[in-house]
Amino acid sequence: MADQAATPEVPNSLQAQAPGMPLLEGAGSNQAFGIDIGGSGIKGAIVDLDTGLFATERVRIPTPQPATPDAVAQTCKELMDQFNLPQDMPVGITFPAPVSHDVVLFIANLDQSWTGVNVAELMWDKLGRKVHAVNDADAAGFAEAMYGAAKDVPGVVIVTTLGTGIGSAIVFDGKLLPNTELGHLEIDGKDAESRASSAQKTKNDWSFKQWAKRLQRYYSHVEMLFTPDLFVVGGGVSKKHAKFLPLLELKTPIVPAQLRNTAGIVGAAALAAQGR
Ligand code: BGC
Repeated sequence: MADQAATPEVPNSLQAQAPGMPLLEGAGSNQAFGIDIGGSGIKGAIVDLDTGLFATERVRIPTPQPATPDAVAQTCKELMDQFNLPQDMPVGITFPAPVSHDVVLFIANLDQSWTGVNVAELMWDKLGRKVHAVNDADAAGFAEAMYGAAKDVPGVVIVTTLGTGIGSAIVFDGKLLPNTELGHLEIDGKDAESRASSAQKTKNDWSFKQWAKRLQRYYSHVEMLFTPDLFVVGGGVSKKHAKFLPLLELKTPIVPAQLRNTAGIVGAAALAAQGR
């Protein structure tokens, strides 16, 4: 499927601003701040919730290594210090892990010391404000449902993100069912993401055709379990969707995500604003 005309424009990322640079500031009232924590970068922007577009530039700071809770929280502070955020602006933060009632349940692709951490308490100590912690794929999926490829799609939508791992979000009539973790389905005796993530494609140097066989197995299985009305495929590799989505034979329509690398920030901000 070709890119949709409605795809929000993705501003260039900025490296961390030098001290003394002016603070970034949004202009409207219906705004929230989103932070996306990834293995290589921590990114944030103010989001216009009416449009799902960034209201400011996006700021990116490399993820500290090791990415311990303290080090990441400190980086979040440095990131937020570059914005002029009203104290009552909702703040959402994504994690590449299931997060239930603010606690990271387990973590596959970031420092293991995150397991059991209460993110709200950690960030309150470091940032002095309330934050809303959500799973990264849930944020991306919710953003697609509100502003992107799944906007106004009734029924069951499954959004998957193909990256270092496989993330999933299930949205039913616009409502998110959080922490579904379908990347860890066991298929043929193996963790699905260890067989079919895009990181595995890169690591094993598979062609798109080789990789598509694994994706076929994966999506057929998910389709059998959930009978979705639509699959949306996100993650960095989704910009190459024309090379692999047409190779998949499914009953369910499968389309690329529209928000691309803004989805995590936008979804985190939107979920924080709704207090979910
Ligand atoms: C994690 C998920 C996450 C996904 C994508 C998986 O390994 O368990 O929580 O959404 O990777 O980052």
